[in-house]
Amino acid sequence: MEGVSEVLMNIILLGAPGAGKGTQAIKIAKAYGLQHISTGDMLRAEMAKGTELGRRAQGYMQSGQLVPDDLIIAMIMERFDGLGQKGMLLDGFPRTVAQAEALDKRAKVDAVINLTVPEDVIMTRICGRRVCPACGGTYHISRDDPKICRACGGELVQRPDDNPETVKKRLDTYLSQTAPLVDYYAARGILHSVDGSISIEYGFMKISAILEKLKNR
Ligand code: AP5
Repeated sequence: MEGVSEVLMNIILLGAPGAGKGTQAIKIAKAYGLQHISTGDMLRAEMAKGTELGRRAQGYMQSGQLVPDDLIIAMIMERFDGLGQKGMLLDGFPRTVAQAEALDKRAKVDAVINLTVPEDVIMTRICGRRVCPACGGTYHISRDDPKICRACGGELVQRPDDNPETVKKRLDTYLSQTAPLVDYYAARGILHSVDGSISIEYGFMKISAILEKLKNR
């Protein structure tokens, strides 16, 4: 594939809601030939299909809480079973210490990229986000057409959990349950913090510099 340097690393993208994990994940996965695994996207797909898991997850997601660990761990382990020989880019998993411990038993994590963004920036980003249900494209009303996906022509929508009240709850949930993973991975010497408030392109350059160093170790 042109422009792709495939690597067999397993990378985690960590960060608060709206930090830019999904946006960077698409670029990184493409550039490094990694399998992009987003637990948020997987859960939304289950909801759209009306599965038992989707029904159980819906209430948690729409109120800004985490879906219980046992459901998430079972879902992600099943996903890992179907993976071939490719490095993984985990977006939105793990989100609790219990999930990180379950991952440790299953796969070696090479690096954790922690995107840091101030709270006021997060609120503006998430409340202005529009997504394409057809291809997963992510846009923002401040710089993109708010209605039509430029990648596939699909109609853009606002996620039901992208409103100020739910975002506040998601941020609280992040601070109490996910932020402890920063210390968890720092203690293992694999945490790399990147300023997520810089431009998308500059952020991608910074992340690429980290991955290039790892690749050449
Ligand atoms: P999930 O879908 O993972 O949502 P999230 O973590 O809250 O993250 P977001 O998708 O909101 O933000 P993002 O960091 O990907 O930002 P994005 O790139 O889109 O999870 C949803 C729910 O599912 C959870 O609340 C939970 O209930 C459940 N769930 C999922 N995983 C779970 C797990 N492991 N355990 C338990 N429950 C789980 O960017 C946001 C906006 O900003 C976009 O408009 C984008 O264009 C813009 N933007 C991005 N970067 C920049 C930049 N550098 N400059 C300017 N604008 C930017």
